[in-house]
Amino acid sequence: MYLGIDLGTSGLRLLLSDDAGRTVDTASADFSVQNPHQGWSEQHPDAWVDGLRATLGVLKHRSAADLAKVRAIGLSGQMHGAVVLDADDRVLRPCILWNDTRSAAEAAEMDASADARRISGNIVFPGFTAPKLMWMAKHEPDLFARITKVMLPKDYLRLFLTGQHATDLSDAAGTAWCDVGGRVWSDDLLAASGMRADQMPRLVEGSEPSGQVRASICEEFGLPKTAIVVGGGADNAAAACGSGCVQEGQAFVSLGTSGVILAARDRYAPDPATGVHTFCHALPDRWYQMGVILAATDALNWLSRLVGKEAADLAGRLPMRPERPSAVQFLPYLSGERTPHNDAEIRAALIGLDIAHDRTEMVAAVMQGVGFALRDSLEALRGTGARIDTLLAVGGGTQSNYWLHALASILNVPLQRPAEGELGAALGAVRLAMVGDGHGVSDTMIRPEVQQTIDPDSTLSAAYDASYAQYRALYPNIKAAIS
Ligand code: XUL
Repeated sequence: MYLGIDLGTSGLRLLLSDDAGRTVDTASADFSVQNPHQGWSEQHPDAWVDGLRATLGVLKHRSAADLAKVRAIGLSGQMHGAVVLDADDRVLRPCILWNDTRSAAEAAEMDASADARRISGNIVFPGFTAPKLMWMAKHEPDLFARITKVMLPKDYLRLFLTGQHATDLSDAAGTAWCDVGGRVWSDDLLAASGMRADQMPRLVEGSEPSGQVRASICEEFGLPKTAIVVGGGADNAAAACGSGCVQEGQAFVSLGTSGVILAARDRYAPDPATGVHTFCHALPDRWYQMGVILAATDALNWLSRLVGKEAADLAGRLPMRPERPSAVQFLPYLSGERTPHNDAEIRAALIGLDIAHDRTEMVAAVMQGVGFALRDSLEALRGTGARIDTLLAVGGGTQSNYWLHALASILNVPLQRPAEGELGAALGAVRLAMVGDGHGVSDTMIRPEVQQTIDPDSTLSAAYDASYAQYRALYPNIKAAIS
């Protein structure tokens, strides 16, 4: 048996699976996010530990015999958060989360230093960990002076389980302290943000053992004393493991709250200026790159709130597939944008509205605008040399046939819709535990069964190309108009 623990922002999920990676049981707990000031986003790490205890308790109650056979545990989790600990491993303040924007000025300062992008392979985004510590040094100097270790969110659960201070490279890559090509902490980047190497957790690969579960935890929950915890992975890296995107040519597009195109890479080929993230994969000697757009289904949800109809209802009124591009251009920058603009100030626009346009046209325009934004990410990823011939299509938005057909033609890439079943970060965590316990990578990190392939339509693709060129021209004008 193997156990995957996925620490998300809205909750924690446990996945207990057998030696073939099949689900045996699951349990979950929900968390809230605290926003004490505008732009702040925090969670107390104690809530995560409480959630882990509660869910382990559920599995113990329901699946004690299977829990007693767990050989290895994998962790996955929300990236970039700063958990700060004192010399006694006490949490000094609530964790500053990935979507907290208070350290924008510190991020810009670090990003402007000549070495930050060169060594880390990425723009220093405000959500990354290093600028959060620079903010603490300025605004909470007394607490900052007491920091003995900085942990990433999922690694606080590792500390609880094993007593070890360790993180895996896919999570370390999102701190702005990591030499992502060399897969080590960078003394230069640490110094640039006022930190020291001894304040960092030990680095392990995602599939490498990081420690043994503490005897008291084994006793409390009925885990075997031999159970180990492997490095695990950041949520996106773990999701890539869960959906079998681990080598060059394997990629997925996700239509979730935000939108992601992620491509696994056999080599390190950063291009920070495009806003593409280049991170270590959760397997040794592999990387992944991803373009992130901040509003995918979030854009449809915005429209849904505006017109007072459920998003599924709105999507359900569209035909199976588009006949032509929408004449209305939608720039989906409702919360600013990451790839390719790295622009927190930009905002969305609807352009070309006609008196005859109805609600359905707006829905089509929103889906198309999200598709064009993802095309920007695809072009940026291809610019780094990533091979993307097909994309596995995941996330809630893929339930819409219209959206998937539009996206296939906009990207001009066949989209594979997987059959029902697990393929997310918790499964990735299970798979990393399996590899850490001796299973082979290629037998474990398999692609899910494909239920349907949606091919691009060549006539539609040509029409979308023309419309995409218009879309591309709009950003600088909108930017000029609102700044
Ligand atoms: C990745 C990112 C998110 C968080 C939240 O850069 O910010 O995926 O990990 O899940």
